[in-house]
Amino acid sequence: METITHAAKTIGGYIPLELSKGAVYYPNLIALNTGRNALEYILRIRKYTSIYLPYFTCGVLLEPLKKLNVKYHFYHIDEDLDPVIDFEIGERSCFLYTNYFGIKTATVKRLAKEIKHLIIDNAQAFFCEPIANCDTFYSCRKFFGVPDGAYLNISTQLGLSLKQDQSTDRFSHLIKSIDLNIEEGYADYIANNNVLCHNEIKKMSVLTATILASIDYEKCAQIRKSNFAYLDEHLGEENILRLNFSGDDVPMIYPLLLEDPSIKKQLINQKIFVATYWPNVFEWANADSFEFFLAANLVSIPIDHRYSLADMALIVKALKQLI
Ligand SMILES: Cc1ncc(COP(=O)(O)O)c(C=O)c1O
Repeated sequence: METITHAAKTIGGYIPLELSKGAVYYPNLIALNTGRNALEYILRIRKYTSIYLPYFTCGVLLEPLKKLNVKYHFYHIDEDLDPVIDFEIGERSCFLYTNYFGIKTATVKRLAKEIKHLIIDNAQAFFCEPIANCDTFYSCRKFFGVPDGAYLNISTQLGLSLKQDQSTDRFSHLIKSIDLNIEEGYADYIANNNVLCHNEIKKMSVLTATILASIDYEKCAQIRKSNFAYLDEHLGEENILRLNFSGDDVPMIYPLLLEDPSIKKQLINQKIFVATYWPNVFEWANADSFEFFLAANLVSIPIDHRYSLADMALIVKALKQLI
């Protein structure tokens, strides 16, 4: 009689965390642990020796540059958040552009035609599909309740066998946000930001990938678009930033640029938390630059799938009393 043995699969025991089983949004991209490491992956494959990056972007992007000894030069953006390219990009150099707030897809498409060694940072544009042959990366935690995770579009693979990351110890802010509230989890969120620094490139953890496979992406995108449209309808006239976005864009936040830099603080005092993009810009850019003005004055209003139009109406009401 044949004996049946169960080799690897564990049967029984306790019931695991229940998550619905769907599909990830980018099954064909390389799934990694962080956006900055996706940039490192690109730099290692392409062997660029220098990079042009905007003054107006996230400071953690310097991590891979310093690690790989890639020289970096900052460039300015104009009042449409488009790059001001008044320099030559050398043979071993590349040019990084950030799809700001997920509303600059038209610029991304134009640059993809014009610039040879282009890298697109879609950390703020999760839903913007990559352009073929254009090195592009994404960071998942800006859009969804995961502690880490990134996707990379690149035509060749790094000849390294990457270890798999583990995210178990990076969840306390996400768990506290449910069990307690967002504010109680905030210190853990900051701690997690620090934990994400200086890690080696690894494959996305199974935990993050499993959560990402449980999300209703279509619904999330639709809610973002309708919240954004509502805010633009009610605040567009106050907004000194020209928002020439396309209807296909799925924005990360509603960027409301105001002359008065104190509005941000006043909203935060009313528990309407608006992030600053990005604190490092105050160190990188001159105090009279447009980038400095953006970092100081931009009110980045959350529009994600947690919120309904009724929430947007509350934000508009609060703002109208301040502007
Ligand atoms: C525009 C931008 N690009 C890249 C990153 C890096 O992503 P990650 O935190 O996944 O490394 C961030 C923020 O962290 C960001 O704001």
